[in-house]
Amino acid sequence: MMNSIAVIGATGMTGSATVRELSRKGFDPLCVVRDRDRARSILGERARVAIADIDSRADLATALRGVDRLMFVTGRSRTLREQQVNILEAAREAGVDFALKVSGARGIVGRDSVVMLGRDHYHVEQMLQSVVPSWCILRPGLFMQNTLEQGRSVTEQSNLVIPCDGDLKLSFIDVRDTAAVAAEILVNPDRYRRRLIELTGRQTTYNDFAGIFSKVLGRPIFVSTISPEGVGERMSSLGSPPWLIEHSIAIARTIANGGFTPEQCEPIREVLGREPISTLEFVQDHKEAFQ
Ligand SMILES: NC(=O)c1ccc[n+]([C@@H]2O[C@H](COP(=O)([O-])OP(=O)(O)OC[C@H]3O[C@@H](n4cnc5c(N)ncnc54)[C@H](OP(=O)(O)O)[C@@H]3O)[C@@H](O)[C@H]2O)c1
Repeated sequence: MMNSIAVIGATGMTGSATVRELSRKGFDPLCVVRDRDRARSILGERARVAIADIDSRADLATALRGVDRLMFVTGRSRTLREQQVNILEAAREAGVDFALKVSGARGIVGRDSVVMLGRDHYHVEQMLQSVVPSWCILRPGLFMQNTLEQGRSVTEQSNLVIPCDGDLKLSFIDVRDTAAVAAEILVNPDRYRRRLIELTGRQTTYNDFAGIFSKVLGRPIFVSTISPEGVGERMSSLGSPPWLIEHSIAIARTIANGGFTPEQCEPIREVLGREPISTLEFVQDHKEAFQ
């Protein structure tokens, strides 16, 4: 079937939002997932599903048969590089024409990045450009949705724990904007072939973000700064694996050093013809998670 669109990582934050955007546009993407029940609960009973684990190149190649355009976005993993190389090899085998990768943020992606996943994303970005006939790469900024992990801290202690000075300028993005951009690219790939697009929402600070939380929740929300080493100690006490602790420390350092500071709103304006979702809209839409 030509012009068939598939999404790998369809049950994740960015992937599920992309599937929703594609449905809104009248498309019925193939959702490549590892767990059918989970896919049903997140994407609905009517979602078109193929089962494949990204650790299995053979399963992926079978799932991608007949797929013309592919988006892939996979989560934090010690084996992200191997998993995404599997995806690319399978895409090549299945004859995928266009592949869209949601990569890491500009501040972490690089051959010599201090962040392991930044080096992995770089490797996959490079490989992508020679494996499929045509491609596009999105490098989103710091996810606003990361604050959802602090729902309990905000609810119980009215506190946002941050890895940098509260006045440091940062460029967050709502994953729904990345998803809307991704969906538009999948529907009209010709306009975006061979482009690497860095995208963020409007620059702000954690102090301003906390002010938005205070305004929407109707009570003061404070910020407290934790050092990168403090991030590591905290995760260690929670039993996180060493690679994830190392990753989180490196991300915290990158944030504090301004790696997520540059603002790049233009791609969202260009592709979607509107302003990026603001931190106010984000908190209003996720109010229940912080009350
Ligand atoms: N957090 C940030 O601020 C930030 C900023 C810029 C870029 N990024 C990048 O964004 C990506 C994460 O995006 P996200 O938060 O939208 O992802 P996410 O919510 O963690 O979703 C990850 C997806 O990958 C799927 N997956 C994981 N392992 C799998 C396996 N073995 N087989 C099949 N599917 C598997 C998950 O399936 P299940 O639902 O079954 O687990 C899920 O659908 C990362 O690559 C990260 O580097 C993050």
